Amino acid sequence: QRSLKVALLGGGTVGSQVARILLDDADALAARVGARLELTGIAVRDVDAPRDVELPRELYTTDAQSLIDGADLVIELMGGIEPARTRILQALRRGASVVTGNKALLAADGAALFAEGERHGAELNFEAAVAGAIPIIRPIRESLSGDRITRVLGIVNGTTNFILDAMDTTGAQFADVLAEAQRLGYAEADPTADVEGHDAAAKAAILASLAFHTRVDLDAVRCEGITSVTAEDIAAAKDAGMTIKLLAIAELVRDASGTEGVSVRVHPTLLPRKHPLAAVHGAFNAVFVEAENAGSLMFYGAGAGGAPTASAIMGDVVSTARRVVAGGPGRVDTATRDLPMVGPDAITTSY
Ligand code: NDP
Ligand code: HSE
Repeated sequence: QRSLKVALLGGGTVGSQVARILLDDADALAARVGARLELTGIAVRDVDAPRDVELPRELYTTDAQSLIDGADLVIELMGGIEPARTRILQALRRGASVVTGNKALLAADGAALFAEGERHGAELNFEAAVAGAIPIIRPIRESLSGDRITRVLGIVNGTTNFILDAMDTTGAQFADVLAEAQRLGYAEADPTADVEGHDAAAKAAILASLAFHTRVDLDAVRCEGITSVTAEDIAAAKDAGMTIKLLAIAELVRDASGTEGVSVRVHPTLLPRKHPLAAVHGAFNAVFVEAENAGSLMFYGAGAGGAPTASAIMGDVVSTARRVVAGGPGRVDTATRDLPMVGPDAITTSY
């Protein structure tokens, strides 16, 4: 069977889970892709650093360049602008497709990266960049591409939702809850990006660009984080039957002269406790999409964390690898194994 060489750049919270899936589920993935996905190495800063996920030590390297040079597909999970940007460009210029979860980079410089990929016949896919495990990029980009999306609104940062939720339910202090969100792998390497709203703003810019088929400059996103939300604010909101959520809102609007434009903003918002978004707890995310013909759609699920985000990365890896194998449009998902049917009498799960 043919095999594809997969280079993994970054072996932290998300990268380690991606490596685990590539190794543990190798046979099932090979059946779905039509080729084995051979993990050739994991580029990190420190090969001797202690790791939460046990993986073969010989996979770790500081030589990202050599990994990229031999790769059919590159997964970028280092985060930040540099050297992630340079590494992605190196891969695309070799014609190797890239899968990334790096919303900061895409919001800052996505257009140049996509253009480079196109020049070299390589894809740059990024389902994991917005809302962790929730499929939201592909639905907006593909499923709704024949409709006219008018608004995208939701909770797109797990760390801040985790913090606000814990402050609301336990009265905990901001700093203690942030430390817990970091420990659980929800926060960015620099959590300022989360709590100041910059991570949500980057995601909002990406969603708005795709939804409205335009380019939304990150600087044009009005952004206010949660650092000035106090325990007293949350208690007062609670007394009034409300809750505070950090919302990202992107919508088509008309100015006074009737000219259509785009508004994109991120800010703490008071919501009635009965509002569906008030029921989004912990590091979960939810995204509402309103489209002229589809009406309202809601996407909900784990918005951060190693394994949930690795799920979204692996979805992109499988679909990208299928296209690499096919040398064009990839194979569709067909049966790759025989499973017996189970009768209703044998089902013990309760809902
Ligand atoms: P981590 O900080 O946990 O991991 C980063 C990894 O990249 C580490 O293994 C680190 O090496 C390696 N790395 C960093 N800089 C370099 C460098 N210059 N050269 C080589 N290796 C480097 O980040 P996460 O796994 O949390 O996030 C990765 C990406 O995924 C980010 O873009 C993030 O925004 C995105 N993302 C994260 C989510 C999450 O819930 N955590 C959810 C959705 C997206 P070392 O281990 O030696 O330090
Ligand atoms: N730090 C991000 C969050 C990770 O908390 O939502 C997922 O993009």
